[in-house]
Amino acid sequence: MPELRLSGLVKSFGPARALDGAALSLRGGEVHALMGENGAGKSTLIRILAGLERADAGMVTLDGAPLPLGTSQAATAAGLRFLHQELQVVPALAVAENMHLSRPYPLRLGLVDWATLRQAARGALARLGVDHIAPETPMGALGPGDQMLVRIAATLLEGGPAPWAYVMDEPTAALTGAEAARLFAAIGQLRAAGAAVLYVSHRMDEVMLLADRITVLRDGAHVATRDRAATTRDEIIRDMTGREMADLFPPHRDRAAPAPLLQVAGLRAAGLGPVSFDLATGEVLGVAGLSGSGRGALLRALIGALPRAGKITLAGQPLAADPAGAWAQGLAYIPRERRAEGVMPRRALAETVALPHLSRLSRRGFVNHRAATALVRRLSAQVRLKASGPAQPVAELSGGNQQKVLFARALAGNPRLLLLDEPTRGVDVGAKFDIYALIRNLAARGTAVIVVSSDLPELIGLSDRIAILQGGHITQTLPATGMTEAALLAACYGKDG
Ligand SMILES: Nc1ncnc2c1ncn2[C@@H]1O[C@H](COP(=O)(O)OP(=O)(O)OP(=O)(O)O)[C@@H](O)[C@H]1O
Ligand SMILES: [Mg+2]
Repeated sequence: MPELRLSGLVKSFGPARALDGAALSLRGGEVHALMGENGAGKSTLIRILAGLERADAGMVTLDGAPLPLGTSQAATAAGLRFLHQELQVVPALAVAENMHLSRPYPLRLGLVDWATLRQAARGALARLGVDHIAPETPMGALGPGDQMLVRIAATLLEGGPAPWAYVMDEPTAALTGAEAARLFAAIGQLRAAGAAVLYVSHRMDEVMLLADRITVLRDGAHVATRDRAATTRDEIIRDMTGREMADLFPPHRDRAAPAPLLQVAGLRAAGLGPVSFDLATGEVLGVAGLSGSGRGALLRALIGALPRAGKITLAGQPLAADPAGAWAQGLAYIPRERRAEGVMPRRALAETVALPHLSRLSRRGFVNHRAATALVRRLSAQVRLKASGPAQPVAELSGGNQQKVLFARALAGNPRLLLLDEPTRGVDVGAKFDIYALIRNLAARGTAVIVVSSDLPELIGLSDRIAILQGGHITQTLPATGMTEAALLAACYGKDG
């Protein structure tokens, strides 16, 4: 079996050290999880392997022989394949054609032999255990999970030396549960065929299910490599954070009969409603539902990003039906697709956080830069943002830290009502803890929160009450105390808990 070894990797970006003695070994036939907090250096390590960045120091060997890296051709020649988040596909072309983008189409009598082309595509997909994707389907009609399966299958059709190692950086971040399950099955097939999979994920469940070995990086350095069968979640979390995480959820506090803050009556939008509920000052309402239940639409209708009907009041005032108006009334929203919807990547971190608050930070038309910088520094500390300074462009931050920037921005407005869509997706366990504590603190100071999450322990741990959405309607609202995951899931499926 081939073995790739990385040792003593160092990489700095200006004064910031992204890698500081990182090490890893990857063997054919294993799934190797790479874990670490946001900003620990995982993506940087992968970018070095892929030849997209050059290490300042360190050693990479393949079966004991030094491996020249630094270009993507070198990585390809070494048998490495990378599934980056931005999938390179041609949406208008069929699946089978997408699988032949980098090699000639089969010909017959000088013409493209479509039957052979499709047969090859079908065969490669079947080797991954995939039989639900027809080779003639246009690529653009597939979801992100199926596109990923097609991309992996395409590598099986390449000419030349066969790839032996697959590198996936948070592949399930944008996938539904069913799509992720198919990807896991395909990963199992690759492993059974002797390939190695290097897998970056923040989801402990996935890692414990898939990985043979787990390597943890902290602050760019190698902390430990452990056999999954001989370790525990707690041990991995300790490796990542250097602290114990027993109390991941802060305790619920007791509240005396709170005043109603948000009143929603007969809310309707596309695929949603009518929905009616009240929310008290300082209350955290969880929203559970399967995908397609209207979870995201509920939040977007409330913020006014979707056309809606119905009567909504916030602190007794009718709530504006447009995002800017709602923001002015004290409503903040953190969308699910943070990278796409929320961030202008080239803009500096300080600007991103402060921009929506400039009117508050200005006097007679002049921005008080000192106040703005102080605000940004205070909020960055509050969300434990890892960045070199307020001038750093958001694009340079690690994925999880980009999400924290949006949290900081929402918090700066002291929102009366905070809407959160999957607030901890792509966020490491330590940062999760920080975000949970932030949400609880805000609630304790009177902010009402609505949180949509497919992470059931998160919903139960954070919420006071949980509303179950099914087919666009709230079918039940249950107290979170004493709720179990199984009961919650059963409620989402419409069975008696
Ligand atoms: N091009 C760059 N310029 C400046 N700093 C960078 C650049 N790329 C990465 N960094 C910094 O290097 C550190 C490691 O980032 P990296 O993206 O590798 O983290 P990560 O482990 O993948 O985190 P996440 O789990 O959030 O994706 C971070 O502090 C990041 O801000
Ligand atoms: Mg990353």
